[in-house]
Amino acid sequence: MLEIAPSVLAAHPLYVARDVKRLVDAGIKVLHLDIMDGHFVPNISFGPAMVSSLSKEFPGIELDVHLMLAEPEKYTDTFMKAGAHSITIHSEISADLLPILMSIKRAGIKAGLSVKPGTQIDRISSYLDLIDLVLVMSVEPGFGGQKLIPDTLPKISLLRERGFTGTISVDGGVNLENSREVLSYGANRLVMGTAAFTAEDPKALFDQLLST
Ligand code: DX5
Ligand code: ZN
Repeated sequence: MLEIAPSVLAAHPLYVARDVKRLVDAGIKVLHLDIMDGHFVPNISFGPAMVSSLSKEFPGIELDVHLMLAEPEKYTDTFMKAGAHSITIHSEISADLLPILMSIKRAGIKAGLSVKPGTQIDRISSYLDLIDLVLVMSVEPGFGGQKLIPDTLPKISLLRERGFTGTISVDGGVNLENSREVLSYGANRLVMGTAAFTAEDPKALFDQLLST
């Protein structure tokens, strides 16, 4: 079942609740929260206070937290307490992935792994039986508003060929024009920042995407 996950990074920083409510009213059930530390990626976004505020303001919405952090192991508990329903860490970090993923699963939270454009699926193959979600970055992580890199998409079908039946989410430069192609590879969640938050008529956009 296809899910659209607007990335709050693209909301107006002074009017996040207003912008998110507009998309929730348009039928959104999942929010994507890009947490950036200025080390793993050359940008800093927002922290656990944003997650807990959104959790209180929009209790029925699934919070899909994407940790673009060099040391996510230091913050998983904090984001779980803040209300994250899923936590995705990057496969490129230096720490051992298994204990971090196990700690997320033990807490009853969905665990995800993300691969940057230059990272091959082999890097996460041994975790596919454990994780609930793979986040395929279709741009270099760090900034919204970039152009989708088509060469990242074959990773999706490779994951399906290797028997991964969990959520495959694509993050970066996704819009109405390229969504059909992205879905044709086997993705079932589209992270959309700019396309979702700048849409004139978000409900029409989501209806069109969900009828793809
Ligand atoms: C990159 C971010 C962006 C964001 C989506 O690190 O993760 O990909 O969520 O932004 P758009 O949809 O504007 O590319
Ligand atoms: Zn993201």
